[in-house]
Amino acid sequence: MPQKLIGILTSGGDCPGLNAAIRAVGKAAHACDMDVIGFHDGFRGLVECRTTRLGMDRFSGILTLGGTILGTSRDKPQKMPLAGGETMDMTAVAVDNYKRLHLDVLVCLGGGGTQKNAYHLQEAGLNVITLPKTIDNDVAYTDVTFGFDTAMTIAAEAIDRLHSTADSHHRVILLEVMGHNAGWLALGAGVAGGADVILIPEIPYHIESVIEALVDRYRQGKRFSIVCVAEGALPAQAPESEEPGPSVGVRLAQQIEAMVNLPTRVTVLGHLQRGGTPTPADRLLATRLGTKCVELIQEEVYDVMVAVRGDECVPVKLKKVAGKLKTVPLDHPWVQSARLVGTSFGD
Ligand code: F6P
Repeated sequence: MPQKLIGILTSGGDCPGLNAAIRAVGKAAHACDMDVIGFHDGFRGLVECRTTRLGMDRFSGILTLGGTILGTSRDKPQKMPLAGGETMDMTAVAVDNYKRLHLDVLVCLGGGGTQKNAYHLQEAGLNVITLPKTIDNDVAYTDVTFGFDTAMTIAAEAIDRLHSTADSHHRVILLEVMGHNAGWLALGAGVAGGADVILIPEIPYHIESVIEALVDRYRQGKRFSIVCVAEGALPAQAPESEEPGPSVGVRLAQQIEAMVNLPTRVTVLGHLQRGGTPTPADRLLATRLGTKCVELIQEEVYDVMVAVRGDECVPVKLKKVAGKLKTVPLDHPWVQSARLVGTSFGD
């Protein structure tokens, strides 16, 4: 009879490193005489009791694999979409399934939404532990989330590649990256890739300042510019129309071409940022978090998120994390460094 039975699910947008984390939890659990079962497609799989046994054989060859072998969804137990389009509170069903399977703990791998949903299940009586993942790096109370380093690497490489074509054609090229509410990805990739302008949700931009930065470069004899813009970047002045229009990158390109004579192109990186092999840094982080999670389970420390604090992985009460967002502080060292190398934030 194994010591404990762990249920595990991945929820929210996928990201590289999820499989590395599943592997770490699974291998460490088996080493500690615990069994693991996985739920398919996030909280939906918990509600529908769609499980898969995760024996040791399932963890071979997945360390470097992108996505999640369990599948994921953005469905919440407390607001589960039904076939007819309406939603229903399925919390009680999730609790019943947990009990019916005799689980000791539910491990949820996810971003901000997942932390909230996991806390909801904790309140309903389950033992829960979460791991912070998202390319957005916006989960509160952790220095970093896994998935972020890989997405930042992909976005920085895109900037590197855009440099040569922007240079050849003497163009402005805008790279739009993900990040609705937090600008970590645009900021990190923008600094690493040497973007000339970085626009993030935390620093509302003035189109005039953006254009001034671009024109200034041309005056200095630099005949191309790269702008790295987060999908959630907003102008300081409210837009004239509330109607959903083109993405911020496309809108900015139109404005730049209309206001100054600078040939401009846009690349929207989209889901490329979430695909493929995790970087070694993300594999390492996911492995550290996953194994720490099992140590905590052994000690019966529940209702926590395993967070990164400096070199340590530490438990933080889920209650503290749920519903919070970690945005870029305006005086963050990355912002200061960017300004000191002459990057404009359009402010
Ligand atoms: O939550 C991660 C994220 O990649 C965000 O950066 C992005 O805004 C969103 O997911 C996109 O969601 P979806 O894959 O559901 O279109």
